[in-house]
Amino acid sequence: MRKKIVAGNWKMNKNLQEGIELAKELNTVLSADRPNCDVVICTPFIHLASVAPLLDASVIGLGAENCADKASGAYTGEVSAEMVKSTGAQYVILGHSERRSYYHETPEILKEKIKLALANNLKVIFCIGEVLEEREAGKQNEVVKGQLEGSLFDLSAEQFSQIILAYEPVWAIGTGKTATAEQAEEMHAYIRGVIAEKFGADAAENVSILYGGSCKPSNAKELFAKPDVDGGLIGGAALKAADFKGIIDAWK
Ligand code: PGA
Repeated sequence: MRKKIVAGNWKMNKNLQEGIELAKELNTVLSADRPNCDVVICTPFIHLASVAPLLDASVIGLGAENCADKASGAYTGEVSAEMVKSTGAQYVILGHSERRSYYHETPEILKEKIKLALANNLKVIFCIGEVLEEREAGKQNEVVKGQLEGSLFDLSAEQFSQIILAYEPVWAIGTGKTATAEQAEEMHAYIRGVIAEKFGADAAENVSILYGGSCKPSNAKELFAKPDVDGGLIGGAALKAADFKGIIDAWK
């Protein structure tokens, strides 16, 4: 059975002290009322080493929001997958639309990042999703399939088993404009079909596909009720313990 997952993406929010406070609060709240799903928080790099020892790993997993496309060396300012792993983190988000558009991360660059993350035993939360013009032109399936093909299709089935997918329509990210549960389900079922074609029926059945884009306590239940929606990747609503918990509780 594939995993249900709610993952938080803090993006570039919270200084170290604020991040530590939020992590502690989440750990306390979720230890007292244990979730019915896997919970992951993905924080800025500088938080990882301080936050890792504060979390009960049986309740909350920890991830980075990015890693380098090189293993090590003279790449000033970059953080490698090995460094992420050495903090105690178990996950990394790759291919977020903000990285693709603001930092020009191409499918080829993402392919390198994914390989390095997997080689360092990090699970990858790989983001895909179309922009508004693509949806308006009816090209969303084509775009998402291209993103899957461009970065994942040379993985082995074993490597692919370490991938979590996150469908995030770019027009829904941080806009308050959520995809309807029907739109999400339609795309998730399509993605599962693409995975089945490439990696086989078992891989498709086992891969968790998260929805991301203005997911909040008030809409999480309806989204997660859909058969192919296995949880959420949460931005804004992951920055307050009560909101994040409200989304996690949608699985109850
Ligand atoms: P949002 O962000 O929940 O603030 O829309 C989601 C994401 O970008 O992962």
